[in-house]
Amino acid sequence: METGSALAALWLLLCLLSTCASSFSPKQTDPLLYEEQLLWVSGVQGQVDTYRIPLLTFTQNGSLLAFAEARKSSSRDRGAKFIAMRRSTDKGATWSPTSFIVNDGAKLDGLNLGSVVVDEELGSVIVVYVLCFNHYNCYPSSTMMIESWDDGLSWSPPRNLSVQLGVKSFSPGPGFGIQKRYNPAKGRLVVCGHGTLEGNGVFCILSDDHGRNWYNGAALKSIPYNQKKRALDFSPDECQPVELTDGSIIINVRNQNSYHCRCRIVVRSFDGGLTLPVDNLFFDYELVDPAVAAGALLKDGVLYFTNPSNENKRVNLTLRWSLTDGKSWEKKAVQLWAGPSGYSSITSLDSGSADDRKYIFVIYEKGHVDYDETISLAKIHLYGGR
Ligand SMILES: *[C@@H]1O[C@H](CO)[C@@H](O)[C@H](O)[C@H]1NC(C)=O
Ligand SMILES: *[C@@H]1O[C@H](CO)[C@@H](O)[C@H](O)[C@H]1NC(C)=O
Ligand SMILES: *[C@@H]1O[C@H](CO)[C@@H](O)[C@H](O)[C@H]1NC(C)=O
Repeated sequence: METGSALAALWLLLCLLSTCASSFSPKQTDPLLYEEQLLWVSGVQGQVDTYRIPLLTFTQNGSLLAFAEARKSSSRDRGAKFIAMRRSTDKGATWSPTSFIVNDGAKLDGLNLGSVVVDEELGSVIVVYVLCFNHYNCYPSSTMMIESWDDGLSWSPPRNLSVQLGVKSFSPGPGFGIQKRYNPAKGRLVVCGHGTLEGNGVFCILSDDHGRNWYNGAALKSIPYNQKKRALDFSPDECQPVELTDGSIIINVRNQNSYHCRCRIVVRSFDGGLTLPVDNLFFDYELVDPAVAAGALLKDGVLYFTNPSNENKRVNLTLRWSLTDGKSWEKKAVQLWAGPSGYSSITSLDSGSADDRKYIFVIYEKGHVDYDETISLAKIHLYGGR
C-alpha cells in the first residue's frame, strides 16, 4: 500500500471506530439546506388565524420541541392566543400533531412568546412568556412560566413570576434562554427580553435554583427611558443571548429605531447576566437588519446567525457564520429564503455524536406575500457544501 492510501484506510478505520466528526474543523463549515418542512400554516386550522413567533429547542432526551403563538382572531401582536407546540422524537423527521399547551381565553391583550430554556442539569424544559404586555384593557403585565418534566409531553399550570420579579412589562426573547455551562454562575438560567416601546431596553431575569426563584439581572435601558421615542433613538429590543466558552454572554439585539445603523446591536456580560456595561456594546455593521428578532447559536466553535438580511424589509432570510465568536463573519452566506421572512431561531443537539455535529435546525417565519403565512423548519447540513 502506498502511504497515501494507507493513511486514508487508517482514517476510515478511525472514523468507523470513533467519530468522523473530529475530522470537521470550524474552517470546513459550508452549510447547505438539507431539508425543509412547514410546521404551521396560518389561516387553515379552525381556531387559529395566524401562527407567529417560532421557538425551537432540543430537550435533554434529544427530542425537538417547536413552539409558536397561535393568534386566534387576527395577525396582530395583541389579542387572544394559544401557545402551540409540536414535538419530534426522531430529530425532525416526523412531528406530533399540534397541541395547545396554554390558552389565554378571550383576552384583548393576551400572551406573547417567549423564551424556551432547557435545564441541562435537571432535564426540565421551561417556557417563559408574558400576559398583558401592552396594558391594553388590562393591568398589570405578568411574566409567566410553564415547565415540563417529561420531555415536553405534559406541562405544569402557568406560574406567575411577577410575584417575585415585579410587574414591569417584560417580553422574553423571542428565542431561547440559556443555562450557563461555564463559570461565572455555572448552572444559572438566564432569560433576556425587552420592555414596551417607552420602557424599552434589554432586560435579563435570572434563576440560580433551576427556575424556582427568579430575580432581575442586567438592564440596558433605551434613551430616553420611559419616554416616547423618536426615529433613530437608542432602543434595544428583542434579543438572543449566547454563552461563549469563556463564560461570557453575548446578546444579539434588535435595534428598534435604527440608532447609529440599520444593523444589529451586540452587548456582552462578563458576570453571568447581572450587568451589560455599555463599554462592551458595539454595532455589527455586517449584520444588516430591518429591525426584527434574529437567531443565534454557538456550536463546536462556530457562531451562527439568522435574520432577514435587508436594511428595509423582512425578506432574504440568511444564515451567516463566524469563526471568531462574532468579531467577523465569513464572506460566504447561505440564503434560506429570498422572499418574505421574519423571526427566526436556531437549535442543535450537542450529543457529541458524529451525526448530531453535522446539523443545525432553523425555524423561521416564511411566506410568499407576507412573512406570517407559515412557520418553516429548515435542517441545515453544516458541511454539505463540500
Ligand atoms: C427520557 O430519557 C430517559 C433516559 O433514557 C428515559 O428513561 C425517559 O423515559 C425519557 N423520557 C421520555 C418522555 O421519552
Ligand atoms: C401576577 O402577580 C402580580 C404581582 O403579585 C399581580 O399583580 C398580577 O395580577 C398577577 N397576574 C396574574 C395573571 O395572576
Ligand atoms: C441578502 O443578504 C445578503 C447577505 O447579507 C446580501 O449580500 C444581499 O444583498 C441580500 N439581498 C437582498 C435582496 O436583500
